[in-house]
Amino acid sequence: METTEERLQDLRRRKGQAEMGGGQNRIDAQHGKGKMTARERIEAFLDEGTFQEIDALVEHRCSDFGMDRNIIPGDGVVCGYGTIDGRTVYCYAQDFTVYGGSLGEMHGLKICKLLDMAIKTGAPVVGMNDSGGARIQEGVASLGSYAEIFFRNVRASGIIPQISVIMGPCAGGAVYSPAITDFVIMVDKTAHMFITGPEVIKTVTNEEVSFEELGGANTHATRSGVTHFTAESDEDALDLVRNLLGHLPSNNLEKTPRLSSAKPSIDSETLRNLVPEDPSKPYDVITAIEGIVDHGAFLEVQADFAQNIVCGFARLDGHSIGLVANQPNFLAGCLDIDASVKAARFVRFCDAFNIPLVTLVDVPGFLPGAGQEWGGIIRHGAKLLYAYAEATVPKMTVILRKAYGGAYDVMSSKHIRGDYNIAWPTAQLAVMGAEGAVQIIHRKRIQTSGNPDQERQRLVDDYTESFATPYKAASLGYLDDVIDPAETRERLSRALGHLMDKEEPRPTRKHGNIPL
Ligand code: HXC
Repeated sequence: METTEERLQDLRRRKGQAEMGGGQNRIDAQHGKGKMTARERIEAFLDEGTFQEIDALVEHRCSDFGMDRNIIPGDGVVCGYGTIDGRTVYCYAQDFTVYGGSLGEMHGLKICKLLDMAIKTGAPVVGMNDSGGARIQEGVASLGSYAEIFFRNVRASGIIPQISVIMGPCAGGAVYSPAITDFVIMVDKTAHMFITGPEVIKTVTNEEVSFEELGGANTHATRSGVTHFTAESDEDALDLVRNLLGHLPSNNLEKTPRLSSAKPSIDSETLRNLVPEDPSKPYDVITAIEGIVDHGAFLEVQADFAQNIVCGFARLDGHSIGLVANQPNFLAGCLDIDASVKAARFVRFCDAFNIPLVTLVDVPGFLPGAGQEWGGIIRHGAKLLYAYAEATVPKMTVILRKAYGGAYDVMSSKHIRGDYNIAWPTAQLAVMGAEGAVQIIHRKRIQTSGNPDQERQRLVDDYTESFATPYKAASLGYLDDVIDPAETRERLSRALGHLMDKEEPRPTRKHGNIPL
């Protein structure tokens, strides 16, 4: 008969084995690559002392390839829950020191259990990915567990926030769990994501491409748009997730957390003078954002991708909001394929999680060009239109300058149920800019005039005075008001207060058919 002390010693031995993962040498190798271990990551992430581990004693049950002689309790993933700023968060961290963090049957089922608990209790899930992918020795059983995870990611979508932090390799079908989740954060230089690696690509297509160029953080932040944030280090990535969670409710039934208010970092006089006299001159819309939202609260999402549109979280008088703004500094703020897709996904996230939307408009239209047409700007642009039209959170729109053509309709206009639509006196709501419009409707008149240049200028001035203003739209009720730019924050805060409890039921249906 074992004594109590012996039983406790046995328990401690088992737990100790789980804690050591693949052993000190592999832990040292992990540190040597500048990476934290799975447990260090979780400790650094959660509020101190709050981590409650589950399934530390789960083991794989594979006996092929001599696997039964190498069983490590926990099976290469640390799972559990704790708090961030006092709110429950579920998290898992793959342990690269155990079979390269590869996902076998039981490793995958641990993640599934965690996702099930998170859905049941309505708390966010954060996955820290550092894995060689499907555990080769376990064959189809590991693919099965992956699919079980994907299924749960889809079920949890729109119910609890799901965040993926990529802190090492992430290859093959393994990238699809992060891709389904709401936000992907990659650690620069140590994280890589791809479907097929450089060697397979070389064999199949003869292309030569490095790991970094193919699937590094910079590539996914600037070219593919797969990642939403790039972090300098593991610590930086985890800080970012904490900050991001601070903007979000724990689930789709909760309201967003309200923090204390802080004055904007840009003064109202700067806002008044922000839009240049010359309509073709660019400016930085981030200045407008900083002049409206609480100081220090703006968290830009996908800052290096489709920079012609800015998306991000911020606070308005302490309330979480989602911001979408055309950026005149890039492509004159035109909507193109990438910008439409980026903003559509952001709008849908905010709508799913009760985060009111503020849209700042300065858009000359959709980007013209054969490349855009052939790439499907029609169906991709429609995504943004669809996302705004279906969103039922409070939608507030400020037109700063141009709101031309179809892009006027798309950017949270009154007609697709903007709740509070206002404009600065510099706003121009029209089918197109004066030069283009005059060229089309007065071409013959200009050609037959004795002095074509003078006549064109006269007609442009005439058009600008009559149509390139906010007043026609205001007279039709398409704008609720035209305001002094210095009052923007106050107007939006007041409107938000009234709109917070708005209800806008939509007809029951299985789901709509957004043009994907
Ligand atoms: C089992 C694996 C493994 C895997 C790595 N290891 N990947 N074990 N299954 N998929 C083990 C290694 O054998 C090694 O064990 C340890 O993890 C560390 O691996 P190293 O190669 O020494 O590390 P490193 O040089 O840093 O390279 C890491 C790596 C490389 C880039 C991830 O290991 C690699 O290319 N692995 C295979 C990746 C892959 O093709 N996976 C399948 C993708 S397809 P020892 O005992 O020596 O320490 C896929 C399908 C998912 O995932 C489908 C979902 C639907």
